[in-house]
Amino acid sequence: MLNQTDLSKLAPYLAKGKVVNIEVKDRGRKGREVLLEYDNGDKLVGDLNQANFQMRPLKGLTSIASYFARGKYGSNAWRGNCSGLLIRDLLEHYKPDTFGDLAVGSGTSIEVAQDLGYDSSNTVFSDLNPKYGGVDISGPDLDFPLLDFIFFHPPYYVFPGSSMPVYSGKGADGRGMWGDEVNPHDGSRISDQGEFKRWFDTCNANLYKLLRKGGRLAILMGDSRYRGQYYSMFKNMDLFGELEQVIIKQQHNCLTDTIQYSGKFIPLEHEYLVILRKKDPYIIPVQHVKFMQRDVRTSEKMTWAAVLSMILEAHGGRMKSAELEGEMSKHPKGKANNHLAEKLRQELQRHPRMFRRDGADICLARPA
Ligand SMILES: C[S@@+](CC[C@H](N)C(=O)[O-])C[C@H]1O[C@@H](n2cnc3c(N)ncnc32)[C@H](O)[C@@H]1O
Repeated sequence: MLNQTDLSKLAPYLAKGKVVNIEVKDRGRKGREVLLEYDNGDKLVGDLNQANFQMRPLKGLTSIASYFARGKYGSNAWRGNCSGLLIRDLLEHYKPDTFGDLAVGSGTSIEVAQDLGYDSSNTVFSDLNPKYGGVDISGPDLDFPLLDFIFFHPPYYVFPGSSMPVYSGKGADGRGMWGDEVNPHDGSRISDQGEFKRWFDTCNANLYKLLRKGGRLAILMGDSRYRGQYYSMFKNMDLFGELEQVIIKQQHNCLTDTIQYSGKFIPLEHEYLVILRKKDPYIIPVQHVKFMQRDVRTSEKMTWAAVLSMILEAHGGRMKSAELEGEMSKHPKGKANNHLAEKLRQELQRHPRMFRRDGADICLARPA
């Protein structure tokens, strides 16, 4: 992709520091855009087609965030630590007067805040980890000043048996990052999905209450998968406050990690950063996620076509019409209906792309 001329144009920029990522996009008549990312997180862009080639700094956030570099913040020995470069970009973008992170983990956000000139007069940091105060943010009675910007990077949902990061109870089972005992308020140790959702919703509600009017809560979260089961924190969570922004953050797993996966498995390479805004001190907009199951066999809300296709599906896709009518009569829609044979005929006529006759059998149709 890069020819000799390109390389000589790039040479002075490649010599400026340790480059961790180069991307080239051919944009046709708009030129050939090249992006360089250095290990401190700085990014430069330029147009390789320009005669007078010059690169300029690329700054700021877009709705897709990608950091190859780790930057100088936080500790990568801390399992599940996040990119300080993202926190830096958020603080530089929103420029909040006061900032807090109440689940600091390895302290990435503390280092970023210090680097940007924040000090103890305008920041608050804590964690369930006693090293950072031992405060449980899912608890009922938090004592913190109201803040303009809160960053929350919770533990992700951990499927029982999976090797995802857990935090408390280092001494208990050799897993975990701190503490002799498993702390029951540690989200990473909650394996029941309903309980985890309640924990996460409670933390988010508590943190939202700690925002000043106009303040923002930025939550970085990821989906989990283990042995064919999938859990999406973003899809399952309640939202408190106005949803102002969703940023998809790309995770840079090694390509070689993905090569071993086969079948229908699509490796997870994204996280969500969700920004919620508190516009009014009194009124909290809430989006509540509720889980339920609808049983086709008892639901009167189903159309006849949906009921018929589910009955056929449950019987291998093919049934004698008398047998199908028998099943229809057991459904609440069919109980008071004395004309099920006519109903069946009518539905077959109305949905020729869904059902077909094959002699005495009724079948689920396939795409023609
Ligand atoms: C994903 S880590 C944060 C990583 C951090 N952003 C970093 O870069 O190092 C999640 C943190 O949440 C903390 N935590 C878990 N449950 C908590 C709770 N109920 N209250 C406060 N912190 C909690 C854990 O101790 C852990 O440090």
